[in-house]
Amino acid sequence: MRIVLVGPPGAGKGTQATRLAEQLRVPHISTGDLFRANISQQTELGKLAKSYMDAGNLVPDEVTIAMAKERMEQPDAEGGFLLDGFPRNVSQAEALDELLTTESMKLDAVLDLEAPEEEVVKRIAGRRICRNDSAHVFHETYKKPAKDGVCDVCGGELYQRDDDSEDTVRKRLEVYHTQTEPIIDYYKAQGLVVTISAMGPVDEVTQRALEALKRED
Ligand code: AP5
Ligand code: ZN
Repeated sequence: MRIVLVGPPGAGKGTQATRLAEQLRVPHISTGDLFRANISQQTELGKLAKSYMDAGNLVPDEVTIAMAKERMEQPDAEGGFLLDGFPRNVSQAEALDELLTTESMKLDAVLDLEAPEEEVVKRIAGRRICRNDSAHVFHETYKKPAKDGVCDVCGGELYQRDDDSEDTVRKRLEVYHTQTEPIIDYYKAQGLVVTISAMGPVDEVTQRALEALKRED
């Protein structure tokens, strides 16, 4: 399956993408994670991306599309993929359509995760991530690690993302409403959007997502 996940920052896209990718046996492709890997490896792309990310803005389309395209062309993505955080505006969605058409492929669904603003703000404020693996995500109250500041999975150090400060989160939400939400209408016109609530326990949201995707199959 080829799926795009969309939803406000903190809705739980990364959390759900890890689980759905496992169930559906497709790679989880997160442009946010790819940028963060570049930042930690101090690449030129990482240096450029960091300045935009820290301000809560989108990284320019040209570099983002090139990076996403390169990742989607890896052999493990041939049979399908789950995109998390890409596309993030209409021109990225058009670029993705173009790429898929060239390869004679199409999307199966766009899964839209809905969560109210006060909830996503709480989720982001308490989020802690493992330095060793960005898929190891915790929360101060919702998913507490057994030992404060230490990853339950690998023992790595937990940290708070630079762009999770209150001011930056507010900016990211504004960018979501103005630039990303319009892609929902773009994909509605193609009949691809499946909207589910991202509220409730993580397992319940995963089940809800799998059932909604089955209906699209
Ligand atoms: P990105 O990394 O994509 O961040 P985001 O979209 O803002 O989403 P988040 O990672 O903040 O949240 P999430 O929805 O994945 O939530 P999570 O599962 O972690 O992008 C970051 C930046 O990179 C952008 O601002 C931009 O600058 C740049 N960028 C990336 N892609 C780009 C693109 N295509 N174009 C241009 N720029 C781009 O969950 C959050 C917390 O809640 C966790 O602590 C989790 O444990 C907890 N939680 C999850 N689910 C539940 C639940 N059901 N109940 C209780 N707690 C829960
Ligand atoms: Zn870890």
